[in-house]
Amino acid sequence: MTLSIRDKKIIWHPFTQEKNAQKIVGIKKAQGSYVYDENDVPYLDLISSWWVNIHGHGHQEIAKSIYDQAKTLEHVLFAGFTHEPAVTLCQELQTILPKNLCRFFFSDNGSTSVEVALKMSYQYWLNLRKKEKKFFLSFDGGYHGDTFGAMSVGAKSGFHNQFKALCFNVLSIPYPYTWNGDEQVELKEEKSIRVLKKYLHQYANTISAIILEPLIQGASGMRICRPQFIKNVVNLVRQYHILVIFDEVMTGFCRTGTYFALHQLEIAPDFLCISKGLTGGFLPLALTVTQNRIYEAFLGDDFKTAFAHGHSYTANPLACSAAITSLKLLKKPECQEAIKTISKMHQVKIIEAKSQCPRIEKIRTLGTIAAFDVKDLQRFMSLAKLRFFEQGMVIRPLKNTIYLMPPYCILEEEIDSVYKKIVKIINTL
Ligand SMILES: Cc1ncc(COP(=O)(O)O)c(C=O)c1O
Repeated sequence: MTLSIRDKKIIWHPFTQEKNAQKIVGIKKAQGSYVYDENDVPYLDLISSWWVNIHGHGHQEIAKSIYDQAKTLEHVLFAGFTHEPAVTLCQELQTILPKNLCRFFFSDNGSTSVEVALKMSYQYWLNLRKKEKKFFLSFDGGYHGDTFGAMSVGAKSGFHNQFKALCFNVLSIPYPYTWNGDEQVELKEEKSIRVLKKYLHQYANTISAIILEPLIQGASGMRICRPQFIKNVVNLVRQYHILVIFDEVMTGFCRTGTYFALHQLEIAPDFLCISKGLTGGFLPLALTVTQNRIYEAFLGDDFKTAFAHGHSYTANPLACSAAITSLKLLKKPECQEAIKTISKMHQVKIIEAKSQCPRIEKIRTLGTIAAFDVKDLQRFMSLAKLRFFEQGMVIRPLKNTIYLMPPYCILEEEIDSVYKKIVKIINTL
């Protein structure tokens, strides 16, 4: 069935100016690295459908595990009940996480995993009778989701300016964003640390936690920072008894080359937020993983100290089954090899692209993510998006930044051809 524009108009789409809604593309099916429109035209999904489809689309093993699970237990409320898929998933995750990240709280999406971390952190201090510790530190450009807590800590991402008046105040630190050949990086890091130290000096006793996207800020333009900078920040704030929240909603599940960015940093945060790649893009699911010390602060004789948070679909068994299978696929040597190949190809191809296109600047790669800025791209944004699409590629630039975050099943020849096509398109804009 081909959808008419009128049919498509019924729906109000996310992050979309509805006035241009006639540009909404109907997708009929998806397989591997491709999505297919209503006329069966394939498009290479170079952003893994908002960074979720790590194994590509329609993976048969994940589909089968959902089907098998649906025949036995499709759902049960999670307060007072548990089930095997939830327990197995957490046990499997434990095998790749630092040992002290051992308490798992389920929710449904990246934003809620962040809300949970913020609320847990606040209530942790409340339960320890430190109610003055109610403020949060975050970084300029950090994006943590669209719910109110997540918007508040992402206040300087520029995504939610219209809601500013309703958000709580956050102390925001300049982010020392860097790229290949950046000569100012040390100066930028020094400035960030200076601001952080000033905040700590003035407000440390009132700060509950710091939240950050480790190694790379996603939505604000794939902005990389150096690992040592994050280590310095974490070491510093921990001296002041400030909890550490790593938002790995985007970076998780090998996006940065390791299972989680925390593995490159050798840091176990107090809270780890994960979602997106968790179910391989099949179903919404999220986890906030924390430490025993935090969990134990919520134990008590009445409900007052318990964590009053839960969603109807918390730990949905179908989503858990999908996640177990997705993780199994991720651990396979062939998948790990593919991740290495994509990472290496990005490193080579991005340099080639820069040499062939003078408007490309600030090239950067991290694991399976590659990004670069294009001078003046914002002026040609609509045209650029259209050209990419006409050439069979799903790419959504972020301001002046073009980025690639393909599914791990993408082929080497596809990556090669993508870079060539992008260069050609930019050179003709
Ligand atoms: C780092 C980060 N945190 C949180 C979120 C919010 O996730 P969701 O869109 O699933 O609510 C996103 C989404 O892009 C993200 O990149």
